[in-house]
Amino acid sequence: MEAHRRLELLSQKIQGCTLCALHQQRKQTVFARGNPNAELCFVGEAPGADEDAQGYPFVGRAGQLLDRMITAMGMRQEEVYITNICRCRPPGNRTPTTEEMEACLPYLHEQLALVQPRVIVALGATATKGLLKTSLGIKAMRGTWKLYRGMIPVMPTYHPAYLLRETEVGRLDAKREVWKDLQAVLERLGRPLPPRGKK
Ligand code: URA
Repeated sequence: MEAHRRLELLSQKIQGCTLCALHQQRKQTVFARGNPNAELCFVGEAPGADEDAQGYPFVGRAGQLLDRMITAMGMRQEEVYITNICRCRPPGNRTPTTEEMEACLPYLHEQLALVQPRVIVALGATATKGLLKTSLGIKAMRGTWKLYRGMIPVMPTYHPAYLLRETEVGRLDAKREVWKDLQAVLERLGRPLPPRGKK
């Protein structure tokens, strides 16, 4: 069976998932958006209220910032694939527990095996922990290449929601660091770096 069809079936299977308590309060599960043939995959944490309502990842404020980051990289939405560690919204947008992440991770492994991206960007601490099984914080991890399952290069960077939360001064520094990380991703993909001042 071809990968697209298998992704569809995986998405349908997740819609009925009751492996952890998060299913009790979800409006719907959130699987992915973008191109399943993309070379570049972004992995976030879990749906928030907007994603829970609309059924797609990163469609709220953090998602709008992520979209601007993708555009700044000189890429189109159709050239990336976006998903999360967890498929159901944690109440109050709290961080998913280790148990919730562990329950959901096999879905991500299956999904990534079908998409086979060349590079993964881990957005924030939860995505980094889930993909790389590390206990190191995002500050220590960001900006350094790691390998997902010994195969796919992963660049951990700050979550766009963190950029939105930071104070004016902290935000500038964090944005600069994220931009450095995304430039490293473009280099790794052999894509041109956008001209300075164009981001
Ligand atoms: N934050 C995430 O990590 N994922 C989403 O889908 C939305 C916000």
